[in-house]
Amino acid sequence: MGYKDVYESWQQDPDAFWMSAADAIDWDRKPTKALFDDNAPIYEWYSDGLVNTCWNAVDRHVEAGRGDQAAIIHDSPVTHTKHEITYAELRDRVASLAGALRARGIEKGDRVIIYMPMVPEALEAMLACARLGAVHSVVFGGFASNELAVRIDDAKPKAIIAASCGIEPGRVVHYKPLVDGAIEQATHKPEFCVIFQREQEVARLIEGRDFDWHGFQYGVEPADCVPVEGNHPAYILYTSGTTGAPKGVVRATGGHLVALNWTMKNIYNVDPGEVFWAASDVGWVVGHSYICYAPLIHGNTTVVFEGKPMGTPDAGTFWRVISEHNVRSFFTAPTALRAIKREDPNGECLKDYDISGLRALYLAGERADPDTIEWAQRIMGVPVYDHWWQTETGWTIAGNPTGIEAMPVKIGSPTVAMPGYDVQILDEAGHPVAPGTLGAIAVKLPLPPGTLPTLWHAEDRFRKSYLTTFPGYYETGDAGMMDEDGYLYIMARTDDVINVAGHRLSTGAMEEVLAGHPDVAECAVIGVTDQLKGQLPVGFVCLTKGVDRPHSEVTAECVKLVRDKIGPVAAFKLAVVVDRLPKTRSGKILRATMVKIADNQEFRPPATIDDPAILDEIRDALEGIGYGPK
Ligand code: COA
Ligand code: AMP
Repeated sequence: MGYKDVYESWQQDPDAFWMSAADAIDWDRKPTKALFDDNAPIYEWYSDGLVNTCWNAVDRHVEAGRGDQAAIIHDSPVTHTKHEITYAELRDRVASLAGALRARGIEKGDRVIIYMPMVPEALEAMLACARLGAVHSVVFGGFASNELAVRIDDAKPKAIIAASCGIEPGRVVHYKPLVDGAIEQATHKPEFCVIFQREQEVARLIEGRDFDWHGFQYGVEPADCVPVEGNHPAYILYTSGTTGAPKGVVRATGGHLVALNWTMKNIYNVDPGEVFWAASDVGWVVGHSYICYAPLIHGNTTVVFEGKPMGTPDAGTFWRVISEHNVRSFFTAPTALRAIKREDPNGECLKDYDISGLRALYLAGERADPDTIEWAQRIMGVPVYDHWWQTETGWTIAGNPTGIEAMPVKIGSPTVAMPGYDVQILDEAGHPVAPGTLGAIAVKLPLPPGTLPTLWHAEDRFRKSYLTTFPGYYETGDAGMMDEDGYLYIMARTDDVINVAGHRLSTGAMEEVLAGHPDVAECAVIGVTDQLKGQLPVGFVCLTKGVDRPHSEVTAECVKLVRDKIGPVAAFKLAVVVDRLPKTRSGKILRATMVKIADNQEFRPPATIDDPAILDEIRDALEGIGYGPK
């Protein structure tokens, strides 16, 4: 069957399609049907099944004779170490950690926050939660205490599992003081913390509250897998929205297992036993789905890479990892390739390695620019497949289903909708538009298994954010178009979300931080185009009346404030003082126009602009920091 047949078979009988995909999962009790729509437009999948994620990702492979196969390869150029963990070892390690958590009172439904760098223990912590039916929420290490505190107050975890430190090139990131600071700041207090002490930095433990990862497991009874209902939350992953309050995307257990397992062959074209590598971080959705869960559920070997595409030690690191571990399918963000291309445009570093085992490169997380795709194709000698999805969906909305049929690539398009997704381009009134016309990208409800059923304890926000603008559809927040052949083109976000080095960030959240500076009366943050990171945030601040300080002092404080409050990952390094912000007569800040000026693009100021002269001031300010007219 080709792509069209498979897509049509889903359209004709979605329930049969997803029940057949569910056969690849070990259920403790089989679900009687796939979709549960009694509470539409809130949908659930496999609700009356009973299942355990950890069993499916670990134990069942040991039972099936894969015990000696590597489950995880940790390749860490920043610590100069490499090691493998087999499926049998992984089972024992996870059962022991889960046993220790259970002995301290962690049960099905309890939340556990995980704040760890790219070490196998991060995956083990996730799997140990899954084993007990506890709901984990992994927080990316590049977020500061304040962001961690916000997540603690929302998820209300019984425990936090953290590492003593992370390692960024040139510096050790002190995780433990960040955890302590967050707990102090948060209203909700977890009962205990488990700290994985790394050699590079041994953290001070607080007696009675903090336990050492190893000591804590001493003498405990290993835990068995606890079956949970198909609609039981597997995890919460916070992602950026329009405001400073992140959205707690919920992933339900049954759909997560079925959908991720389906993608490994059909989209990434790997068979069990083969090595799959996603160069991302466990703190992002790509890390959840494609470093941890999907490869393990499918019986692959996953690579946990702790390093950067360049500088650890050089621009050949990715090629070394692919050749040394015989990676068959490789997934990363375009920004990582741009970083390599900048250091090694002719691919000299690749000459030292044999990457002939690699079948394809998959790109996602941000727009894949044609230059980068063509460069990667030429240098690496494999097909490059762009695919488009989001934290909310957990897996590909549009991609190239190479395991079914490799569709002809149209550079600039992530290809076609996957089964499960009825993707439509809508005008402002919610009517489908003609092929080739730009509009809001929406998905007809229900979304497929594995996508978010709701936001954590915020169903109203879920409805408002995603289901209200276009009744009967899920609003993706992206704008784009579809051509006559059904190929999608993703053009821009329709909200205040920007994408910096493949990391999703909220300009609204940054504005909230800047507004907290005592000398800032008003501010705006926009995302400007950046050759390496795709976008970079730039802040414009208007000073409070009477403030008479050097502008450079205020902007330096603004930069520090965002780093301290949101974290280094915000990559907020550019701020300028302006007298006024351009606005419409009704007071709406013209951010989109400011972006156009910064990117040196043609634009027409909206007819509703209050004072067009302010645009010249913005242009001058941008010129002062190297943006705008060249
Ligand atoms: N813990 C602590 N700090 C972190 C961090 C972590 N896990 N990850 C990043 N940071 C810090 C970086 O050190 C940097 O700090 P600096 O301002 O002191 O230099 C800052 O956050 C910004 O990080 P980033 O934007 O990632 O820049 P970078 O220069 O460190 O790396 C790339 C740039 C392109 C190499 C890197 O972002 C990359 O490889 N991205 C692609 C893969 C990926 O992560 N994709 C995610 C979604 S698929
Ligand atoms: P995240 O939730 O962090 O995965 O970010 C999702 C957002 O990143 C999407 O809504 C898009 O705006 C953007 N994005 C992800 N993949 C692509 C892609 N292949 N092409 C264009 N934009 C993408």
